[in-house]
Amino acid sequence: MLSERDLESIQHWISQMKRSTSKMEKHHDVSKAINALRLNYKILGYGNTRIVYDLENGYVVKVAISRQGLTSNQTEFNLYNRCSTRLRKYLCPVIDHGDGWIIMKKIQRMVSLTEEYEKKLPRLRRRFRKEGIEARSLRSKNLAISDDNNRIVVIDYGSFKYCDN
Ligand SMILES: Nc1ncnc2c1ncn2[C@@H]1O[C@H](COP(=O)(O)OP(=O)(O)OP(=O)(O)O)[C@@H](O)[C@H]1O
Ligand SMILES: [Mg+2]
Repeated sequence: MLSERDLESIQHWISQMKRSTSKMEKHHDVSKAINALRLNYKILGYGNTRIVYDLENGYVVKVAISRQGLTSNQTEFNLYNRCSTRLRKYLCPVIDHGDGWIIMKKIQRMVSLTEEYEKKLPRLRRRFRKEGIEARSLRSKNLAISDDNNRIVVIDYGSFKYCDN
């Protein structure tokens, strides 16, 4: 889904980022990543750890802009592939991944968290908890609503954690 040139740009950026950011650094200059990457896709959004490009074929690519972003991408890839089918329906599908990037289905994020959906969050958290996963950062910018059945779909689950009990 990514061209040779895209992959090269990403690889180049990731090695630059790994060299230059210290483990303690939490926030990063997004423009530094954008300039280094020079990808020919529209930017859909970004967070503290990743920048998200629209591949314009129904998918997005999330590129790490910090070390934490590398971990978030790994977490999403692993979680999506390892969790039960019961939980998987709440997670935005991950299609492919490589060093520092993942490809995910594109879903329109939630504009704001309405009371109706706010009320559904504790139950969603409990469902994950039951299977040993702590569902963190469930905020509107990390959530979407699937059009077919109005179910909450998490688009940023990079901070989810497997718990010890
Ligand atoms: N699957 C997707 N489809 C459409 N837009 C997306 C998708 N994933 C992310 N986005 C957009 O990109 C933004 C940043 O993505 P994401 O939340 O995964 O990055 P992050 O750096 O992990 O965020 P945070 O700052 O919460 O840690 C989202 O808020 C959303 O607007
Ligand atoms: Mg986010």
